[in-house]
Amino acid sequence: MNWPYPRIVAHRGGGALAPENTLGAIRLGASMGFKGVEFDVMLAGDGTPVIIHDETVDRTTNGKGSVPAMTYAELSALTIQEKEKIPTYEEAARLCLALGLWANVEIKPAKGHELATGDAVARMTRELWKDAPIAPLLSSFSPVALAAAQEAAPELPRGGLCDTLPEGWRSILKQLGCTAVHCNYQSLNGKLAAEIHEAGYGILVWTVNDPAEARRLVAVGADCLVTDALDRIGPDFK
Ligand code: G3P
Ligand code: MG
Repeated sequence: MNWPYPRIVAHRGGGALAPENTLGAIRLGASMGFKGVEFDVMLAGDGTPVIIHDETVDRTTNGKGSVPAMTYAELSALTIQEKEKIPTYEEAARLCLALGLWANVEIKPAKGHELATGDAVARMTRELWKDAPIAPLLSSFSPVALAAAQEAAPELPRGGLCDTLPEGWRSILKQLGCTAVHCNYQSLNGKLAAEIHEAGYGILVWTVNDPAEARRLVAVGADCLVTDALDRIGPDFK
């Protein structure tokens, strides 16, 4: 697969240098020259897609509670490291568009909400990015969420997220109409990279923070590195 996306992508917006999955993080990534960001999208209890990684707000905000049990109004009252808020997906998307950033949008459903999350994120992505030159790449660890995204907006590219590639990965990716594999960087070697490319898929690896390891991954054929170490693995890393 020809990789039409940036080669280095800032994880959760600004990697380790900003509060994760916030508008400030996305701004920081862009200000450091990154051309692409990854972030996680989950549905609030009222169905609003928001940018957050965990199923609870406990780790990243000053509040406590389960994301799918809270309305967006409740989530938006919380603060992240005293300076940020939980953004909506729409806010994050509009900021990316304003900054000219490409996005790897990870569909991160709360348990039991896989289908609804894949469906909502795909529909909103189609609408928000309709005039953008390059559509985001939707990815998920959940095959149910990816199938729902495929059903709702088949034209949007999809990446199959995994730690290590499962048995039968070729047929799983084919069934979900994926164009890329998004695997843990530790599971990628030259033989596997060649097999993935031979099968016609691009390769994104996460989350690579050591420049020596990043060089190994580029050498074995990774098309895209997602990193937290924005200061050590910059946008022009080769
Ligand atoms: O999408 C790549 C990476 O973000 C997957 O892991 O847990 O950081 O969302 P996680
Ligand atoms: Mg993620």
